[in-house]
Amino acid sequence: MNKKITVIGAGNMGQSLIRGWLSSGFKKNNIFFIDSDPTVVISLNNQGIESKDLFDFRDIDIIVIAVKPQALDSLLVDLSLNSLEDTVLISVVAGKKIKTYQDVLGNLPIIRAMPNTPATIGKGVTALCASDEVNEEQKVLSQKLLESVGSVIWFEEAMIDIVTAISGSGPAYVFYFIECLIGSAVQAGMKEDLARELAIMTVYGSANYALESEQNLQELRKRVTSPGGTTEAALEVLTNGDFKDCINLAINQAKKRSEELN
Ligand SMILES: NC(=O)c1ccc[n+]([C@@H]2O[C@H](COP(=O)([O-])OP(=O)(O)OC[C@H]3O[C@@H](n4cnc5c(N)ncnc54)[C@H](OP(=O)(O)O)[C@@H]3O)[C@@H](O)[C@H]2O)c1
Repeated sequence: MNKKITVIGAGNMGQSLIRGWLSSGFKKNNIFFIDSDPTVVISLNNQGIESKDLFDFRDIDIIVIAVKPQALDSLLVDLSLNSLEDTVLISVVAGKKIKTYQDVLGNLPIIRAMPNTPATIGKGVTALCASDEVNEEQKVLSQKLLESVGSVIWFEEAMIDIVTAISGSGPAYVFYFIECLIGSAVQAGMKEDLARELAIMTVYGSANYALESEQNLQELRKRVTSPGGTTEAALEVLTNGDFKDCINLAINQAKKRSEELN
């Protein structure tokens, strides 16, 4: 692909995307970035990625915005001073509606994307939604960009807060679950490095199995659960306890926070 991309905000997510593009064959000299943190600028420059001036979007086909939500308002004011007519704008900023961008920039084609951090190793999942102004070619292009860091699912914008709560924040819940497994194993006397491998590989293997199997999750769960066995003993604690309610509450809190950020 010979399109030129500028990433504004090359922090965790911005760099995950850049890494993904590079490892899936995008040319270094088509990728630019703007970042207010000098250490980020030096580090990416040292890797051969060129930084751009904020007011230089002349040859740029795609702008990817990856700053924190609280930095967006002033960035949009800066961007509004540029001519962006031939540019598609993809934003990964959590909780900011397409309308927020169009209120300041006019009716530009805007794609709202919600990736997650496994994108760093090409195993993310990104939810995408597009404004009415985005044409088919721009949709295909955006999909291709995000597919370089994992899988892509298109959504209506109305769904984005729950998507954020499930997949955007989701890796943190999974990491926490793994931490809990490790904690229990260590408490029972296992060495931490062994516990870590055991717990991570269990989650990794189970997720892959669920993905590849034709059986649904309940059937897969039943397969592990013999009557009167160890799994049943554990699942009884989880189902009789607050596990489901706790997850539901946590997801609702994340969704509410995403709505508040709008
Ligand atoms: N991390 C995730 O899992 C995840 C998942 C989905 C979506 N997102 C979204 O991705 C966005 C970035 O998150 P992150 O975790 O990557 O944040 P981050 O690591 O803090 O990266 C943001 C970068 O943008 C720079 N910056 C701030 N204002 C700028 C401006 N006006 N012009 C140029 N650069 C600017 C920051 O520099 P300073 O440090 O100097 O301010 C920082 O280097 C957020 O909106 C978040 O909602 C993140």
